[in-house]
Amino acid sequence: MNLSAYLEGKRKTVDNFLKDYISLRKKQKDCPRQLSKSMAYSLMAGGKRIRPILALASYEAAGGRSDGILPVAASLELVHTYSLIHDDLPAMDNDDFRRNKPTNHKVFGEASAILAGDALLTDAFDIISRANASPAKLLKVIRELAFAGGPEGMVGGQTADIIFEGKKAKKKDIIYIHTHKTGALIRGAVRIGAIMAGSSPAKIEVLTTYGEKTGLAFQIIDDILDIIGTKEELGKATGADSAKGKNTYPSSFGLKESERIAEQLVNESLEALKGFGKKADPLREIAKYILSRRN
Ligand code: IPE
Ligand code: IPE
Ligand code: MG
Ligand code: MG
Ligand code: MG
Repeated sequence: MNLSAYLEGKRKTVDNFLKDYISLRKKQKDCPRQLSKSMAYSLMAGGKRIRPILALASYEAAGGRSDGILPVAASLELVHTYSLIHDDLPAMDNDDFRRNKPTNHKVFGEASAILAGDALLTDAFDIISRANASPAKLLKVIRELAFAGGPEGMVGGQTADIIFEGKKAKKKDIIYIHTHKTGALIRGAVRIGAIMAGSSPAKIEVLTTYGEKTGLAFQIIDDILDIIGTKEELGKATGADSAKGKNTYPSSFGLKESERIAEQLVNESLEALKGFGKKADPLREIAKYILSRRN
């Protein structure tokens, strides 16, 4: 299969949904203009849309066949965007640039950036509540997203990331940070696709293993790119994560070993899918892309 055409096609589909969503928000007179502008600035800044794409690919792999999946998949991007806006704040990573553009708080101010993140997070659940699927299925999706993004998931990981900044973390804490701050939402994206497809618990478990392994690999590669410098050069303006005293995989285990671990995780994620047929090819190709990506 042609992965770049697949990614491009899905990215456009997700982008169109997000464009419609944000233009609706801009038209609503009770949504302050400054808020909708700030939300739009980060949501439409050129993200890869990998989490929605993973949800769509997992849905296809599990044999899903309805349109309610698109809003649900897109809602993951709202949660992801909120997490990046907050992650860049001076109180957290204090980054001035993201995706070659000034960060949200640099353009709109800190208070506005916090509120734009709050609004995106809240709207993610609003979008799911309106999707075309049974209320029982949507309730499962809501619980899944709340778990993936919440205190036992992404927010837990972000908390540990901050707690251990400037301190030497143990191996188990390093694994916790990375599986949670980034792995959890990617795992959740894959599970949400499978839930929307009406998968059996056994199939969901297999896809969960795929999501866990690729999710952790994704963050390890993020940290490697942060060091080898091919990730958004301007993003380096305030220094790489390892220079901030973050407990990254490369700063803890070295570059070579981190590359080896990421490769092993991707191989294990491919192994997990061995019972799936051709419909899982996009998931397989995305796993390989996660390893080879340069942005
Ligand atoms: C960056 O995520 C931050 C992490 C959680 C590792 P992405 O690399 O998916 O960011 P965009 O949305 O494509 O810019
Ligand atoms: C971001 O991790 C994780 C979340 C935002 C949940 P990083 O702090 O490593 O991401 P970048 O490097 O700023 O994109
Ligand atoms: Mg961070
Ligand atoms: Mg950061
Ligand atoms: Mg990073």
